[in-house]
Amino acid sequence: MEMYDAAFKVLEILESSDGPVSGELISNKLGISRSAVWKHIKELNNMGYEISASQKEGYRLQKKSDRLLPHEVRKKLRTSFIGKKMRYFESTPSTIWVGKKLASEVDPEKLHGLVIIAEEQTGGIGRLGRSWVSPIGGIWITIVLKPKIPIDHVVMVTMAASIAVARAIRKEFDLGALIKWPNDVYIGDDKVAGLLLELSAEADTIHYCLLGIGIDVNISPSQLESVPSSVTSISAEVGHDVDRASFLARILREFESRYLLIEAEEYEAVIQEWKSFSCTLEHRVRINTLKSRFEGEAIDIDEHGALLIRKDNGKIERVIAGDCIHQ
Ligand code: BTN
Repeated sequence: MEMYDAAFKVLEILESSDGPVSGELISNKLGISRSAVWKHIKELNNMGYEISASQKEGYRLQKKSDRLLPHEVRKKLRTSFIGKKMRYFESTPSTIWVGKKLASEVDPEKLHGLVIIAEEQTGGIGRLGRSWVSPIGGIWITIVLKPKIPIDHVVMVTMAASIAVARAIRKEFDLGALIKWPNDVYIGDDKVAGLLLELSAEADTIHYCLLGIGIDVNISPSQLESVPSSVTSISAEVGHDVDRASFLARILREFESRYLLIEAEEYEAVIQEWKSFSCTLEHRVRINTLKSRFEGEAIDIDEHGALLIRKDNGKIERVIAGDCIHQ
């Protein structure tokens, strides 16, 4: 993004003006030539900003870009460390993959809070080794963290993120989002978001973790046809495209406040909130794990994110990973 810094300086001038701004004024303000101004206007056009140009009046911002650009997210961001640094890709195989590569090159401490954004992913990764369909219009991000959390509580990071996504959907769009164990976000019977935590650790030391969040936002149902399960998107639910930048800024803020609770060892507050959004607890479910399959009632979740199931014979099973099908 760095190569576009000057273009965004031009954009800021246009954003802060109600009317058109002459090329001369921009060039004087930024100390660059008028042809450089023109070049940056073209770059902004290519990034989706609609800017009109007239010989007489100058440049005027007509419409902001609907891409998920860090510049747009930053305008709405109210966090202390999550998203203070962002990396943006028009297309990448997977933001998880980008996170892994970065963490192998840079001290993960320096990456703490970095948000990697992709407009589309060509090889999106889902839970349990599945693929994740990630066309243009969604939110496909990975947050890099160097958590100061005991390793046996690290799953709570994903719980905090699923709460953040559900809350942001409720607040921004007034839709009744709920969390299905482990950390899928649903609207009604359809999945709208999935979360994934990849951990790099040795013994009980966490090197870093990568929190992948995928949300179907401005995506038409036909773009999700290849997904085998029942899915929806925010735009399909509300009937129009929505502003992804403010939505993402809200998610990051909601996530940060809960992440800080976990670091302060206030686990119970996060667990209680997760439970209040759960559509799994108190329901009859079928569990498929690598080793076994069984049915029962989902009765509770513990502070390691494990689901407790009361089987028909009264025995309680603790499930750490697997598929949970609501009956
Ligand atoms: C799931 O299977 O429910 C989890 C899906 C996680 C998808 C997100 S999209 C951003 C990040 N990059 C990936 O490749 N996967 C995660």
